[in-house]
Amino acid sequence: MPSTPTPARPETSAPDGNDPRCIPHKLTGSLPVGEECIYPDYSATEHEVWRSLCARMEQLLPGRAADEFLTGLAALGLDREKVPALRDVSRQLQRSTGWQIARTPGLLDAHDFFSHLARRIFPCTDYIRGEHELDYTPAPDCFHDIFGHTPMIMHPRFADFYQKIGQAALACKDPAVEEGLTRIYWFTVEFGLVKNPGGLRIYGNGIISSSGETLNSLTDKVEKRPFVAEKTAAQPYDIWHFQEVLWIVDSFDHLETEFVRWAREHRLL
Ligand SMILES: [Fe+2]
Repeated sequence: MPSTPTPARPETSAPDGNDPRCIPHKLTGSLPVGEECIYPDYSATEHEVWRSLCARMEQLLPGRAADEFLTGLAALGLDREKVPALRDVSRQLQRSTGWQIARTPGLLDAHDFFSHLARRIFPCTDYIRGEHELDYTPAPDCFHDIFGHTPMIMHPRFADFYQKIGQAALACKDPAVEEGLTRIYWFTVEFGLVKNPGGLRIYGNGIISSSGETLNSLTDKVEKRPFVAEKTAAQPYDIWHFQEVLWIVDSFDHLETEFVRWAREHRLL
């Protein structure tokens, strides 16, 4: 199961087992949600990292990121000059799609992560990577989580689909079906492509948060297939290299409808 949002990553790397950010947390209590999220005392350097990351990403997005992603990003009105407050982002999500943000201390155990999604709560980190990690961080940080993930949660159909992913994951008891669900998560939330009027566009944050993957994903080097839940669920993926196959949805209505059909067939919804 994907226990967390996928970190930005280089073409080839390996997880750092000694990095505390890479160790999943099993919750022993509830996470602060929305207005309960306290704004950390960020340093000037941390705000500068946020500024740099936003500037770099916004150069890459036009003509590559999905219209729905860009619309969500604009509606969020994220501060580009300093790290946004989780409570402010949460308020915007709640107004748009009824989602909220919970502040997580880091990677979450899979059950804890999905139980939040099932309640329309997105677990979000509030720490930011170091200056030396602009290209790569081994674990999600608030740039990945806020800038990369929350724009799509502003989209009503994607927001409903994302909740259903959480609900289905909690209901899943069969390891083979669970593996299929993990792959669907990977190839949609993290590595999904969508048809837009202007052409093929990226909505998956695993692509959007990697400049290399962003540039690679829309080229002919990557085989693109129409999203069919059974086929996507049967497609293995490689965490540490560029994807060789990506899956295209016609729309987010298509994504949700197709996922619900698959989940119901497996008695997950
Ligand atoms: Fe992610």
